[in-house]
Amino acid sequence: MKIALGADHGGFQLKETIKEWLTEKGYEVLDKGTFDEQSCDYPDYGKAVALEVAGGKADRGVLICGTGIGISISANKVKGIRAAVCGDSFSARMSRLHNDANILALGQRVTGAGLALDILELWLNTSFEGGRHKTRVDKMMQIETDCG
Ligand code: RB5
Repeated sequence: MKIALGADHGGFQLKETIKEWLTEKGYEVLDKGTFDEQSCDYPDYGKAVALEVAGGKADRGVLICGTGIGISISANKVKGIRAAVCGDSFSARMSRLHNDANILALGQRVTGAGLALDILELWLNTSFEGGRHKTRVDKMMQIETDCG
């Protein structure tokens, strides 16, 4: 599975930890930056990862900023993206089972690295449930066409 990774300065350290973990587990990682802790703008990285996922160049994406909020809102502006900010394992599991989230967003200033890796592992290993949830996800994506 190929994972696109991105973070602003507020998520850089957790991105590096996640990159190492993913590589150790055998995932292919596409690192879209940022590459240091210089102040930068989270929408640039939210967009870069979202385009990789929406364009099919990555299977899933992981985005990190201080809270996970700004970078996920940015990613969700790209058609085809369902980015979910998760700070707990239950939300991470449900974002896959019910919402078919294709990007996980994390907040480095909110969630410790140990919990973030647990959340990530669960999120990567949980499949979409489909059925009635597919109808709802289809409706959600139709909003892009109706209101875009
Ligand atoms: C950067 O200081 C911070 O605003 C950013 O990382 C993020 O938390 C925004 O949502």
